[in-house]
Amino acid sequence: PERCVVAVDGPSGSGKSTVSRRLATAVDGVYLDTGAMYRAVTWAVLQAGADLADPDAIAKIALETELSIGTDPTSPHFAANGTNVDAQIRGSEVTGAVSAVAAVPPVRKHLVALQQAIIAAHPRIIVEGRDIASVVAPDADLKVYLTASAAARASRRSAENATDVAATEADLARRDRLDSSRATDPLRQASDAIEVDTTGMGIDEVVQQLLSLLDSKV
Ligand code: C5P
Repeated sequence: PERCVVAVDGPSGSGKSTVSRRLATAVDGVYLDTGAMYRAVTWAVLQAGADLADPDAIAKIALETELSIGTDPTSPHFAANGTNVDAQIRGSEVTGAVSAVAAVPPVRKHLVALQQAIIAAHPRIIVEGRDIASVVAPDADLKVYLTASAAARASRRSAENATDVAATEADLARRDRLDSSRATDPLRQASDAIEVDTTGMGIDEVVQQLLSLLDSKV
């Protein structure tokens, strides 16, 4: 079909990015990593030396930051205020601060509007995040909620980043707690989202399952 919008939500380390990129390639569509948008804004906030406890200061910087958001599923690139931030947005400083920045309501309002504009411009798109099915794209053709055990998520993420498993598990748990408990658009499974538990599943298997779900929907 011409139009195909897929929402992929779930906690950190559930495999959203890998699976979403593979799915986008398989359907010949584009890929939107909304987490990278929150990360790029967080990079700008840190760069400006703003106080992370000052939501007004954070909101001001977020709205002033010029973002360039790549949507190529094979190599998405991100820039903030003209600087490429592909490496910086995966670093521990940004990862440590992003949930605080993402909890500020005007930041969310601003980025959700940008996300909706990108979705409107691309009829075939896989969008990954925390609030895609519930807030950003409630009309998505397929809504998937990816989960995995805390141990599986930590071991995948620590293999990716060459970090300690226990420290990674603690960091994922901390972000999940912040992301699930914030007042605005918290992480939660939308009532019409299909849960896929990827614990013990390989990437190919997950992608195949989502492709057949998509087949049955569109
Ligand atoms: O997915 P990723 O780990 O890159 O997301 C980084 C952070 O951005 C999340 O921990 C969350 O705080 C925030 N986020 C969000 N809403 C989204 C995507 C990400 O609040 N749709």
